[in-house]
Parts: sequence; structure tokens; C-alpha cells
Amino acid sequence: MRINALSYYVAKFAAMKKVLVAYHSLTGNTEKVAREIAKQLDADVEVIRDYARRKHLLARLSAALEAVLKISASIKEAEHKVANYNLVILGGPVWVENMSSPLRAYIKREAEKFDQVALFCTESGQGGEKVLAQAASLSGKKPLAEMILMEKEIRTDAMDNKINEFIDVIQAAN
Ligand SMILES: Cc1cc2nc3c(=O)[nH]c(=O)nc-3n(C[C@H](O)[C@H](O)[C@H](O)COP(=O)(O)O)c2cc1C
Repeated sequence: MRINALSYYVAKFAAMKKVLVAYHSLTGNTEKVAREIAKQLDADVEVIRDYARRKHLLARLSAALEAVLKISASIKEAEHKVANYNLVILGGPVWVENMSSPLRAYIKREAEKFDQVALFCTESGQGGEKVLAQAASLSGKKPLAEMILMEKEIRTDAMDNKINEFIDVIQAAN
């Protein structure tokens, strides 16, 4: 019964809104969350890709430096036109208690075209609130909903519960 009700509201919301989930993910955590949100909302997905190779240790250090210095990474062309969407859900990892440089670049580039936004981030333990505040400020929008997920919650019931709450808040705002 509860699942039927949820499906009804998701279908209703999808009919009303065109939703894009745009995310940056280095090690896959944010990606898991983004894909689940997109699945539930039947949303399109934009993967924010940068040109840097970030797998080795030095690259991780440069990632940290970019985040702290609030540098925007050089990112690839987007696949989806933000102007075609009523709602863009933005997600990324916490890097040294700051937004990741590719997510920063995407928001800066696209902010003027946002209609409504919702925000989420993943972290190992701290900095999420600061990152959400940075993303809200850079987007120039008051987010419909916000969510912080810790690494240890990903792929657990805690993740499912938080995503359900996040979606409920988005739906209630419309
Ligand atoms: C360069 C770097 C800096 C990080 N700094 C933080 C931090 O300050 N606080 C935190 O909780 N997690 C930090 N993390 C952990 C990531 O935020 C966390 O693992 C996140 O879920 C990664 O998302 P992703 O797999 O989508 O890249 C950092 C990770 C990296 C690579």
C-alpha cells in the first residue's frame, strides 16, 4: 500500500517536472546515490567529467588544493541542456570540507540557467553542510531539498530512507 502510494506520487511528480540529476563523483559514492535518485524520479542524468587524472596520490593532493582554493576544474561539455529542465538535482563529494572543483565548475557555468535546484553531497565524516551552503550560494537558488550521505550509509537502508525523505521534500515543495 505504501509502495503504491509512493509510486503514485513519483509518477505524478515526473509528469509535472522535467528533472536532471547532475553529479560529480571520483570514487563512485556520489554516483550510486545520484543513480538511485534518478531511477526513482525517472530523471535524466548528467555526469560532470573533468580532464584531470585524479587516481594517483599526487592527483588527490591537487584535488584537495583545488577545493580549498575554490578553483574550478576544467570540465567537459555537458550532454544535457539545463535550460530544458524544471529542476536540477546537483550532487558531489566533499573535498577537504569544500565542494569538489568539477562540481564548482559546473554550477558556475550553468547557474544562470537553473530554474529550481535540490542539492546533495557524500562525505566520510565532515564538511557536508558547508558544501551544501557553498553550492546553494553559487547556484543563486534556494534549494528545494538538501541531503548529506556518509560513505558508511551508502547501499544501506539509511541511504534508502534518506533518499525517500529527500524526494518527499522535493515533491512537497511542488
Ligand atoms: C581529495 C579528497 C578530500 C576529501 N575530504 C573530505 C572531507 O574533508 N570530509 C569528508 O567527510 N570526506 C572527505 N573526503 C571523502 C569523500 O568526500 C567521500 O569519500 C565521498 O563519498 C567521495 O565521493 P565520490 O566517491 O563520489 O567521489 C575526501 C576525499 C578526497 C578524494
